[in-house]
Amino acid sequence: METCVSEKYFIKTFGCQMNVYDSSRIADMLENEGYTATSKQSDADIVIFNTCHIREKAAEKLFSDLGRAQLIAQERQENEGKTTIIGVVGCVVQAEDTQIMKRAPFVDFAVGPLVYHKIPKLLRDIRAHRRQEGVVDTDFPAISKFDFLPENKAQGACSYLAVQEGCNNFCTYCVVPYTRGAEYSRPVAEVLKEARRLIATGTLEINLLGQNVNSYHGEDENGQERGLAYLLHKIAELDGLKRIRYTTSYPADMNDELINCHRDIPILMPYLHLPVQSGSDKILKAMNRRHTSGDYLRVVEKLYRANPDLKMSSDFIVGFPDETEADFEATLSIVKQVQYIQAFSFKYSRRPGTPAAVMENQVEEKVKKERLEILQNLLFSYQEKFNQACVGKVMPVLLEQKGRHKGQLIGRTPYMQNLHIETDGANINKIINAKVISATTNSLSGKEL
Ligand code: SAH
Ligand code: SF4
Ligand code: F3S
Repeated sequence: METCVSEKYFIKTFGCQMNVYDSSRIADMLENEGYTATSKQSDADIVIFNTCHIREKAAEKLFSDLGRAQLIAQERQENEGKTTIIGVVGCVVQAEDTQIMKRAPFVDFAVGPLVYHKIPKLLRDIRAHRRQEGVVDTDFPAISKFDFLPENKAQGACSYLAVQEGCNNFCTYCVVPYTRGAEYSRPVAEVLKEARRLIATGTLEINLLGQNVNSYHGEDENGQERGLAYLLHKIAELDGLKRIRYTTSYPADMNDELINCHRDIPILMPYLHLPVQSGSDKILKAMNRRHTSGDYLRVVEKLYRANPDLKMSSDFIVGFPDETEADFEATLSIVKQVQYIQAFSFKYSRRPGTPAAVMENQVEEKVKKERLEILQNLLFSYQEKFNQACVGKVMPVLLEQKGRHKGQLIGRTPYMQNLHIETDGANINKIINAKVISATTNSLSGKEL
């Protein structure tokens, strides 16, 4: 519904790509209501924090940001006579709704990730009769929020598209099954419709998202359940699309049909994020992962066979309860075998309400820190080695944004490396061929061919 509000919104996003996608959909809704975006928080009439609960630090950051937001809101009120609405959405809300209202009672609304489609109505209510108390909604509704969202708008050359949400895996360290609820897959037709719109608004690369994306099982028009492999083939047929990715996958759900997509779909990028978490079977079992290190390595081998150019990335947790030196060595060993070209690694963080939080033999902070450093040094060495190996090669680069210097653009290679390029003619939002001339651990530099 178009109204005549000429007010501005500001969204700050924490956490995973799903949150980035959710923020883009919240922005779609707000723009439909007549609000416009601002990148300056102090200009915004509505400030929304989209939060992450995955590790303790991520959740704590919210409260310092909220404190700052309250000060900015007070200044706006005093200096400009303007009211600021402050909202919190995302995973912290699902887990700590009462805490938020207790620690930050000035928050106007707190809405969980499965009901953010209710935000426009909430805002209208808040604006109509300024409430004294914040509104909290952490419903796990039976009907999907996707049914209520307006048509998606442009995200740019690279877009996220959520196809699946929630997780039934219950890894013992993880809050996601509690914050995002049970697995839900969007119907094939709905995903294709959203993909077509993204392409029509300039998207060249679509990254299909889900907390456990490779367990996707959406219905087709005939009510038949279809897996991710089917969906990837359908999306690859769409005219104008140049690149496809999907993330995040669960190792036990990597079936042969999906692995073969890496052989059969040319626009599926040769890069897969497949978190292993640990190389120790004892720890994997305690984590309730449904795979051993051997299972994982077999999947990786099949993937490398399906597409010899494919490279891997992963997530790791060090210092999980009862992790010994030998367990940690097993993690280093799997890194050496797979040779990941990128990775995210974290110290285990105790999350209230998860089984691992109350396990015995919690690992000392000092040991976690040491192990993380050793692991990261090893991971960086492979990342750097791969980046160096790219020097001299020609790579297709999707130019995404302007760099810091004049004439500099930043793009993405098929392997998700950032490549900086000096150009005089090239524009963002297109794919060019670039020759890599130098590399660091984190990025590449090249020139247009
Ligand atoms: N669904 C994805 C990602 C989940 S969260 C998956 O299954 O892999 C992203 C990463 O955060 C996880 O892969 C894990 O490495 C890390 N993580 C999750 N809970 C954690 C915790 N309690 N402590 C430290 N890292 C954690
Ligand atoms: Fe969390 Fe495990 Fe589900 Fe990933 S698979 S979201 S780590 S419970
Ligand atoms: Fe964080 Fe929720 Fe994503 S806890 S990692 S924002 S699913």
